[in-house]
Amino acid sequence: MSDAKVHSVTPEWAERAFIDWDKYQEMYARSVEDPNGFWGEQAQRIDWIKPFTKVKNTSYDYHNVSIKWFEDGTLNASVNCIDRHLADRADQVAIIWEGDEPSDDKHITYRQLHEYVCRLANVMKAHGVKKGDRVTIYMPMIPEAAYAMLACARIGAIHSVVFGGFSPDSLANRIEDCRSDFVITSDEGVRGGRKIPLKANTDKAIERAEKDGASVRNVLVVKRTGGDVAMKEGRDLWYHEEIEKVEADCPPEEMGAEDPLFILYTSGSTGKPKGVMHTTGGYMVYTSITHQYVFDYHDGDIYWCTADVGWVTGHSYIVYGPLANGATTLMFEGVPNYPSGSRFWEVCDKHGVNIFYTAPTAIRALMGAGDEAVTKTSRKSLRLLGSVGEPINPEAWEWYYRVVGEERCPVVDTWWQTETGGILITPLPGAIAQKPGSATKPFFGVQPAVVDNEGNLLEGATEGNLVILDSWPGQMRTVYGDHDRFVQTYFATYKGNYFTGDGCRRDADGDYWITGRVDDVLNVSGHRMGTAEVESALVAHPKVSEAAVVGYPHNIKGQGIYCYVTLMAGEEPTDELKKELRNWVRSEIGPIASPDLIQFAPGLPKTRSGKIMRRILRKIAEDDFSNLGDTSTLAEPAVVDDLVEHRQNRA
Ligand code: PRX
Repeated sequence: MSDAKVHSVTPEWAERAFIDWDKYQEMYARSVEDPNGFWGEQAQRIDWIKPFTKVKNTSYDYHNVSIKWFEDGTLNASVNCIDRHLADRADQVAIIWEGDEPSDDKHITYRQLHEYVCRLANVMKAHGVKKGDRVTIYMPMIPEAAYAMLACARIGAIHSVVFGGFSPDSLANRIEDCRSDFVITSDEGVRGGRKIPLKANTDKAIERAEKDGASVRNVLVVKRTGGDVAMKEGRDLWYHEEIEKVEADCPPEEMGAEDPLFILYTSGSTGKPKGVMHTTGGYMVYTSITHQYVFDYHDGDIYWCTADVGWVTGHSYIVYGPLANGATTLMFEGVPNYPSGSRFWEVCDKHGVNIFYTAPTAIRALMGAGDEAVTKTSRKSLRLLGSVGEPINPEAWEWYYRVVGEERCPVVDTWWQTETGGILITPLPGAIAQKPGSATKPFFGVQPAVVDNEGNLLEGATEGNLVILDSWPGQMRTVYGDHDRFVQTYFATYKGNYFTGDGCRRDADGDYWITGRVDDVLNVSGHRMGTAEVESALVAHPKVSEAAVVGYPHNIKGQGIYCYVTLMAGEEPTDELKKELRNWVRSEIGPIASPDLIQFAPGLPKTRSGKIMRRILRKIAEDDFSNLGDTSTLAEPAVVDDLVEHRQNRA
């Protein structure tokens, strides 16, 4: 796409940024030619207790996948995020918290962060949490969520943060999978003026998990709203009471670089989310360096990433990366359109935000609400804008650049994944020209490549499947408790390479354009979801006999969820039943999985061997059924006519 619009790096940006084009080329070349030298030096940006002597020890060999970085070094992630800043910036604000209501905010300094994290760490220790134990965190966007993560890191416990929008069942599955026996939650969450019953959900989840053999010793409850909640004697503890009983200092645990830091569940192409496991040393180095260079973070900047800590973006770019760099990071409890569609920009003005990082789905929704909600605010503090989570369409990119950033702020479109730990492909703002819709070029140490379906490497301008040829420090190490699944998911398709699951195009300038998932994973409003997860939720309903779920293009969400549902014999296909099924999926998985369109299908297109032909279902859902391809191999070709006739998306 050499005819794509290009926004060149301005001379001011080339001047002010840490990395300009010459430096990018020089550092990139070194990072791939001499990874040991490059990363050995870059790793000095964090504090080690015992220095490492080995840098990279990784193998993508299908028969022996193993990823280790800095393996004989020791460190503590919470010390890197807190203690080491105390000498110089104890009174600097570490976290600005902006509540759901615009009148509600808090500033937490590094000194205070140290105390709160230590106290919470001591509470966990007092209740038997040890190094290597799994702690589940199911919290709203309040500072205590960050304290909880860092407190785990301090004592070497492995946190598993579960997004507060997930249902009790989803929470139960995640508690069971990693056999977690300590849960941190709050009474309720608040978003957009609405309350979310987190403690009640936790109670239901534990009841379910315990039926399946799990055992939860304690639930620590942070009081957020003061709403009425049931507390189980002997198990449930109030956070505000417990932190008063312990010391304000907690010595950090010495962790090996390859000791686990956290597990984060993410969806794949099967029904069961997998526990992506990240370790300590490489992750800290990688989130810290990417946060500094991608956002061109300078001391004193106010940085805001609008993600939730329940997703990897919140882990890497609200908590670990920014705090490792001694930044001021803003945590927002609410939603973009409450109390009005100006909220994001009002928050920018209120706190003087310089760097703003959000998802295309929010940009598209706000764009739809008109320019006035933006232009009535000042936004003069903004210097750089970022995008993450899904492909950004050029129209939304241009609007973000022109209306929000007033053509003053570069837009960094950052491509990465839960698995990658940090940003892999993005235009560095002082070095790489931006093209709306393209994530452009790889970060240091990252070697993307394009392969065809047989795994042949494609050269030059081309299109195909995106793989990465070699390891970088932030890469996930395994699927928790299932290394074979890790190998099969990421290293079996194109042997010798890490397969991302994404399709992409590379243009004549060598810039990458991510085109979306090529597997059965959906990306709905930047939330990743397996079609199989939604299908299993649907077939668990007593009136459903069979279901097939596909994505279709959606103006705001990027992709919408389209469900084909075959009912049990004798069930009536009514609008009420559609509503019931929608609510059912919401309660099985969570509101983010709410089906957009449901089509009752008397039959699904299957091959004679019984395999559902998803290609046809995708076409019909896209309202593009003129070219359905060869349907003669179907067991019952007539079902396709019925599906086309009753299709729900008439674009
Ligand atoms: O398809 C890609 C899309 O989101 C997937 C990863 O989702 P998740 O693990 O939830 O992490 C999201 C936040 C890092 C990818 O496989 N994706 C993410 N960022 C972009 C993107 N697609 C296009 N452009 C992006 N900038």
